[in-house]
Amino acid sequence: MAVDLLLGLQWGDEGKGKIVDVLTRDYDIIARFQGGPNAGHTLEFDGIKHVLRTIPSGIFHKKAMNVIGNGVVIDPVVFVKELEGLDQFDIDYKAKLIISRKAHLILPTHRLLDAASEASKGKAKIGSTLKGIGPTYMDKTGRNGMRIGDLELDSWKEKYRHLADKHEAMISFYNVDIQYDLEEMEVEFFDAVERLKELTFIDSEEYLNEAIKAGKTILAEGAQGSLLDIDFGTYPFVTSSNTTAAGACTGLGIAPNKVKEVFGIFKAYTTRVGSGPFPTELFDEVGAEMAKVGHEFGAVTGRPRRCGWLDLVALKYACQVNGVTQLNMMKGDVLSGFDSLQVCTAYEYKGKTITHFPYNIEPENVTPIYTEFPCWKEDLTKMTSADQLPKELNEYIDFLEKELEVPIKIVSVGPDRTQTILR
Ligand code: IMP
Repeated sequence: MAVDLLLGLQWGDEGKGKIVDVLTRDYDIIARFQGGPNAGHTLEFDGIKHVLRTIPSGIFHKKAMNVIGNGVVIDPVVFVKELEGLDQFDIDYKAKLIISRKAHLILPTHRLLDAASEASKGKAKIGSTLKGIGPTYMDKTGRNGMRIGDLELDSWKEKYRHLADKHEAMISFYNVDIQYDLEEMEVEFFDAVERLKELTFIDSEEYLNEAIKAGKTILAEGAQGSLLDIDFGTYPFVTSSNTTAAGACTGLGIAPNKVKEVFGIFKAYTTRVGSGPFPTELFDEVGAEMAKVGHEFGAVTGRPRRCGWLDLVALKYACQVNGVTQLNMMKGDVLSGFDSLQVCTAYEYKGKTITHFPYNIEPENVTPIYTEFPCWKEDLTKMTSADQLPKELNEYIDFLEKELEVPIKIVSVGPDRTQTILR
């Protein structure tokens, strides 16, 4: 068996980019299986900070081949900008990056539809990144979408026109004030499509299954987090794909029995961008301190992230749904020096104490029940081995491992590749 999965277990932004980057040297292939440019995977190395959107994080490693799987949605305009951002690193991306023909295309009108849909919702808006993700997946499941493979047909522009016209009619249906110049957007789009066509399009399920047969190792890199999963997340405040383990199988064409390790990434506390319920959210100076020390601003939109204590009810649920075999704890360094730590171990739910993640976690139904821990005072960012970690942090980790019944194998103590402690 040769496929490992790496998944975010909270509401995204757990630090997956860094961990994939740290782990990639051991893999032959890194594959993205869902989401699109709503993701922002931040990598830091050699004093450089770089954000990837659609391109797998293995692009920075010499050895790894990078695959964008069928489950991903690609915006040619954003994608080409992302490629241009790689120019400074002298990466031969034409040789190292291949794209599934079955991946869907985000059209300019998908972005407009996203904006129109959000504007029409008023206060009930999802807080979408407005990258056109929802409307593109709607066209996919509605069987109207355009795929990368369509770009190989002479008639692709006719298909494009047909769909874009339909979208324009839909935009007017929303009856909201959206300003746009589609002709201008299309010039940029068509240009970007030509650049995109310089890359190699493949039948990626065939490529990946042949690679497995040949004994190659594959890391499937998730985007967003389990609580944003279209089925298991805090619906409707979710993204439009399956961010959980099963999404890697459908998003790459890999059978479940080919999957071995499932790495679950979580922060030592919790953050969320966009709208939706968040039981352990803090509205006081402690939350503000987490945001400040942890630089909690969205990698894609720059929006401030909401911050709160670690929620073990939600994390256990994510471990269960994903079959997590190893945990990686990120940003422990951010909590250094707090007076004490709180961990939510149960919810008071409609008058009862529960430890499972219920159907509805709206604040009127759920009050978190906390266990308190002493916090460590030491700066963790220079620590390099597990035996240097403070006693209080080890107690926190031991408690989490016992509750979650999964070992915590990596503790990240800073954004750089080198600030990674193996246990
Ligand atoms: P969309 O996927 O852009 O439509 O956004 C839907 C919800 O998922 C919003 O609350 C976004 O803030 C959230 N979201 C989407 N992508 C990410 C991500 O990469 N990190 C964190 N939140 C995300």
